[in-house]
Amino acid sequence: MNIWKTKTPAQIEDAAEHTQLKKNLTAFDLAALGIGSVVGTGIFVATGQGAHLAGPGVLLSFIIAAVTCGFCALTYSELACMFPVAGSTYSYSYVAFGEVIAWIIGWDLMLEYLVAASAVASGWSTTFIGLLKEWGIKLPQALLTPPITMSGGKVVASGGIVDLPAILITLGITWILYIGIRESAKINNIIVGIKVAVIVLFVILGITHVKLSNLTPMMPFGWKGVMAGAAIIFFAYIGFDAVSTAAEETKNPKRDVPLGLMLCLGVVIVLYVTVAFTLTGIVPFKQIDIGNALPAALARIGIRWGGALVATGAIIGMISTLLVTLYGQIRIFMVMARDGLLPPAFAKIHPKHRTPHLCTWITGIATAVIAGLFPLDAIINLCNIGTLFAFVLVSIGVILLRKTQPNVERKFKTPGMPFTPLITVAFCFYLMASLPGVTWIRFGVWLLAGLAIYFAYGARHSKLQKAA
Ligand code: ALA
Repeated sequence: MNIWKTKTPAQIEDAAEHTQLKKNLTAFDLAALGIGSVVGTGIFVATGQGAHLAGPGVLLSFIIAAVTCGFCALTYSELACMFPVAGSTYSYSYVAFGEVIAWIIGWDLMLEYLVAASAVASGWSTTFIGLLKEWGIKLPQALLTPPITMSGGKVVASGGIVDLPAILITLGITWILYIGIRESAKINNIIVGIKVAVIVLFVILGITHVKLSNLTPMMPFGWKGVMAGAAIIFFAYIGFDAVSTAAEETKNPKRDVPLGLMLCLGVVIVLYVTVAFTLTGIVPFKQIDIGNALPAALARIGIRWGGALVATGAIIGMISTLLVTLYGQIRIFMVMARDGLLPPAFAKIHPKHRTPHLCTWITGIATAVIAGLFPLDAIINLCNIGTLFAFVLVSIGVILLRKTQPNVERKFKTPGMPFTPLITVAFCFYLMASLPGVTWIRFGVWLLAGLAIYFAYGARHSKLQKAA
């Protein structure tokens, strides 16, 4: 058994489904796709959490997280254009690093997709509950709150039983994925329009209420606070890799992929920074509602209708983020099962719906359980550390593959080699280092559990090992 065995580029191309995809996406379409999967719980909910850690300096947290993502995007695009196949970073790692690291990445990507989906569901729930309250509808608190919460870095009982809305929305979306409805580009564009419109509405309604006294001191917890904020705010940018995975369907990937990515990140950063400024300018940061930041802020300054409208837009917008994220996870599981690293059930296709039905339900139920039982900040931290780790490996992979696979066509080349990937690694580590120690412990346990499963199952069933 050689756990370091690599696939050749030809092998992963062969395994890909050769759909005759139309190559008709433009940079603009890619940007819309990116905004559709990026804008969600992060801006509507996690901004409040970031502000509690960084104060008004959360504005800087947003900029630091954006710069990190900009670098990640440049390195990620090279691999995505080299191997336009399903399975994302997992597939690239099989070529770059070999099987055991590919497995670890696949396992780690569960944090970026499955756990992120739980976070989106959880944020959806808190926004939805806020809206219900606004309408005067009261439900039993125990059914709206996960049983545990974080207090001073410790896990304590919250008095709740379960976050039921988070579970129900996840199962609803799972059902949609099970019967095989995928969001079309047209629906995506409408949802993106709604999301952007409610964010702009928030800024327009709030900006005249900004008080400079709320914005000073800018960094009440110093640079450490800003970085702790950035480490959580990073979540708000996750999902831009959707742009690179659509590389295969673009007219001119060399131009459109980087342009689409930069356009997406550019729009998102302008939206986010103005939101952060407005939010911390209208509400003293300690009083920001952690679960329902933007709508509650408008309600606080007396614009209740505005708050309700923003909440409604956010709820619609987060549904598309949840859909895309769950879909991504299901595809990754499917590819891993095809390689023999997961049981074949994960790749089984439903005869009528033509979807990987078992995988869809397993993914959906796991996501629902996490969303229903765990507090949002703990979920977001775990998701961020996993995603940052994946980007570290992507960046190293780009450097490595330039040496080991110099002849594979690169439709997009990361500029400034090898500095761009090295700077990416440094930024990712800096953000990871700003996450709480307990998140590192959880992450370590997660990776060790993954390794144990690989040796117990994957290594023995791997198709690559068997072929050798
Ligand atoms: N970036 C996505 C969100 O904020 C995951 O919901």
